Amino acid sequence: METLEAIFARRSVRAYTEEPIPDEILRRVLEAGRATASGGNVQPWGFVLVQAPVRLAALRSLAPGIIGEPTAVICICLDVQRAVELGGAGGEQVAWLSIGLATQNVLLAAHDLGLGACPVASFHHAGISIFLNLPTGVQPILLITLGYPAIKPTPPGRRPLSDICFTETWGNGESL
Ligand SMILES: Cc1cc2nc3c(=O)[nH]c(=O)nc-3n(C[C@H](O)[C@H](O)[C@H](O)COP(=O)(O)O)c2cc1C
Repeated sequence: METLEAIFARRSVRAYTEEPIPDEILRRVLEAGRATASGGNVQPWGFVLVQAPVRLAALRSLAPGIIGEPTAVICICLDVQRAVELGGAGGEQVAWLSIGLATQNVLLAAHDLGLGACPVASFHHAGISIFLNLPTGVQPILLITLGYPAIKPTPPGRRPLSDICFTETWGNGESL
């Protein structure tokens, strides 16, 4: 799949079939997260994969933002301790940006591999930290739900380019 095609066609998918995701596909998605650019190449992330059905059910109870029944979930974590130790002053702030990029890589890889995925920020952070046995200094940032899509979502739309893109100075409407 072309990169631009993936960028434009990806959607948040919240309805999944029961078809299990093969390990090699999940591994590819995780490799896409691993390949992400990061400030100073600090790689301030960790990815926790949850697949066991009983654990997925428990995880859903800690995450009201999860809609539907994904067959796998990846928790994207920020290793604050690593970010600060290796990233110096401002390391944590830069690390947040890197986490955002890793999230997009995971979402695009999932789409490319035929999976549906949805980023979920609405979850009980303390509960998820305990559930995933996260060490001190590691925070859960996003849950990425995964599964084979049961429906093709309608694109929710975007603000027009003329509202968000300017030429030379902010607010100058003369665009391309
Ligand atoms: C940081 C972030 C947090 C989100 N949290 C949730 C969530 O808790 N539950 C949910 O169903 N969707 C969540 N979404 C998905 C957005 O609703 C979705 O990306 C947006 O409506 C645009 O739709 P699209 O992804 O299909 O382009 C989140 C997306 C982002 C980027």
